[in-house]
Amino acid sequence: MAAAVDRAEDAGAAAATVGLVPTMGALHDGHAALVRRARAENDVVAVSIFVNPLQFGDPADLEHYPRTLEADLELLAEAGADVVFAPSTAEMYPGFPDAPLVRVTAGRMGTVLEGASRPGHFDGVCTVVATLWNLARPPRGGVLRSYFGQKDAQQVAVLRRLAHDLDVPVEVRAVPIVRSAEGLALSSRNARLSDEERVSALVLSRALRSLAEAADEETVIDVEAARQMVRDEPGVTLDHLVVVDRGTLEELGAELLCQPLRRDALALVAAQVGPVRLIDNMVLSAP
Ligand code: PAJ
Repeated sequence: MAAAVDRAEDAGAAAATVGLVPTMGALHDGHAALVRRARAENDVVAVSIFVNPLQFGDPADLEHYPRTLEADLELLAEAGADVVFAPSTAEMYPGFPDAPLVRVTAGRMGTVLEGASRPGHFDGVCTVVATLWNLARPPRGGVLRSYFGQKDAQQVAVLRRLAHDLDVPVEVRAVPIVRSAEGLALSSRNARLSDEERVSALVLSRALRSLAEAADEETVIDVEAARQMVRDEPGVTLDHLVVVDRGTLEELGAELLCQPLRRDALALVAAQVGPVRLIDNMVLSAP
């Protein structure tokens, strides 16, 4: 990350913009979209690759997380990254696991939805992202922008609040979900699906689209019917399908789902498909 700063200074840019894209590697087209967006909007593009142990509950999950640095570097060069920061755990957190002693908490927003099945996950995300924001801050009045995928909608909402609530000088920007031609949200976990499971998984985006279309047409938002659509799909076990306020993640009750929608609504789904837990979401009303 120091190199990002040097480059900004070399360019004589007293007020350079730095676009930071935090990742855990095993990169695909979804990540590339974040880098391309950062490239289009900033003088310097920095990407971090760090499999953050603080956000994994299960040690086996952490151990088996795919690590594909060579291929990642190729994808990043192609997408236009200037700097790649890929520290070891010891470099990032000297003294780990006793350090970092002080950590950031996502509070109430980190205990609902994804956080309910992954205790401590969003605290780990907040701690590492706050650290990365500090490391990437440009010198002398420059602007730091940080890019996240709308794929992880709760992560975006939590990190926006982290920046807002703690007055961190960073602009959080969300990039739309990149999907396969059939509509499946890209994820490194999709590689573990069989051909049949991959077809079954399409029910998630189909169910969300039914709600988004109802919102567009100003007809009834029937969340229960969308849930049933997922439950009826063989090989898919629904965890949750809910409509929440995009900013606070609070669930919208029936009275708030009457048309036209009065709040900024987001439909979120999580389900087990074969060996993997998949998530997806769609915005139901424009910001
Ligand atoms: P990771 O899972 O590697 O994802 C890095 C970024 O890529 C996230 O912001 C994620 O939302 C985005 N992304 C993944 N799939 C996407 C898709 N199909 N379309 C658009 N964006 C997509 O998320 C993390 O890492 C970590 O929690 C991190 C923020 C790096 C903190 O450790």
